[in-house]
Amino acid sequence: MSPMPTRAAMTVPLLDLKAQYADILTDLDDAVRRVMESTRFIGGPEITALEEEIARYSQCAHAVACASGTDALLLSMWALDIGPGDEVITSAYSFFASAGTVVNNGATPVFVDIDPRTFNLDAHKLEAAFTSRTKAVMVVHLYGQCCDMTAVRAICHKRKVWLIEDAAQAIGSEWEGSRAGSMSDFGCFSFFPSKNLGAAGDGGMVVSQNAEFAERVRLLREHGARPKYHHAVVGTNSRLDALQAAILRVKLRHLDRWSEGRAKNATLYDRLFEGSSVTRPARDARARHIYNQYVIRAPKRDALKAHLAERGIGTEVYYPIPLHLQKCFASLGYKPGDMPHSEAAARETLALPIYPELTEETSTSSGPRSATRSRPISPSAALEPRSTTRFRSTYRSASPRSVTSPGTCRTRKPPRARRWRFRSTRSSRRSRFAMSHHPFGSS
Ligand SMILES: Cc1ncc(COP(=O)(O)O)c(C=O)c1O
Repeated sequence: MSPMPTRAAMTVPLLDLKAQYADILTDLDDAVRRVMESTRFIGGPEITALEEEIARYSQCAHAVACASGTDALLLSMWALDIGPGDEVITSAYSFFASAGTVVNNGATPVFVDIDPRTFNLDAHKLEAAFTSRTKAVMVVHLYGQCCDMTAVRAICHKRKVWLIEDAAQAIGSEWEGSRAGSMSDFGCFSFFPSKNLGAAGDGGMVVSQNAEFAERVRLLREHGARPKYHHAVVGTNSRLDALQAAILRVKLRHLDRWSEGRAKNATLYDRLFEGSSVTRPARDARARHIYNQYVIRAPKRDALKAHLAERGIGTEVYYPIPLHLQKCFASLGYKPGDMPHSEAAARETLALPIYPELTEETSTSSGPRSATRSRPISPSAALEPRSTTRFRSTYRSASPRSVTSPGTCRTRKPPRARRWRFRSTRSSRRSRFAMSHHPFGSS
């Protein structure tokens, strides 16, 4: 058996950020230079402009930049006074931060199994997870597809609990025409480099339709200082820096084009896997999927992963252990078998390269190759030997192109302060957490 290629030797990596950089190099370099020359590294016009652009792009009235997607979740729950004694219902199958931030806030995560077709929290199982201590539901729009927000919103409305969207993987995705982040009390985005809109480091954003909620997050991310050096509440430092904001503003102009490129590759994969033993990811007809990941199910997943790695194709398992079985949550009392669909997903899922610079190339047009150039290998061909289609990672030159400006995104529903009746924070308060930590916890 040939040795496993090193990361550098990957012919088709899981993600190729160098190809993205080559595509927008001039604009990115200009943006970085602009910030360096301004020396406004913290706060300032780049942050304000990015917040406005992301709010508009996400059909939200307000956006508050912060240090990471994790902090976006943390600050949202903090602003809603979620703490000890409270339960937050979330998906059993997600990145760790979806549950870790609940615990960081002093509350308890309660897990709900996923819909095996979409990998998102199964709305039919949501009501059974409610107790008298349920304070919020945090849905996760996994891999870039919104969960059933119609059903989830109706339940949260009926039960009068907060609703948070963990949209870390889903910026620009939609549910029945509404953008991820716009359908709840708080939407949370991550700008981790591998996201569809990725920074050159960490970054995050909280969006909301509610001015007061957004202001709470703004206050908490700046040590609760209003005005400077006057602290009525204790917050933290969770700022996005201006260099990241400037980079993200350049990338935001290309986001729709990139997400469409990902969706195009997904359609191609779907076609190539037709009739194979691989289970393709389901697209809900009510959703716009932005394919942060294209995740298949394969019965012999680990063998397939090794097989593809040998052929230079990068893949990843998101995620090998469901949240309810993580060691750190053992005290919650979950056991294997409690969330069968999440557990099956952890055994079977495999993310394939889907990035927009990955393009189709028919084997007939591939022609002779230079000996020094790495040979494109088709992930689908490795899975399905009969396939004649190959993928190629291309470095596009920085040529003029049609760009969808963030300001021109379809805004089907104008932002409103509230989409449904929320429970008032004041009426729901229980004084159970150190006031120094939870600024909004006392009447
Ligand atoms: C679903 C989900 N939630 C939260 C996060 C946390 O975001 P960050 O890495 O920016 O802190 C991530 C990041 O991967 C994520 O995928």
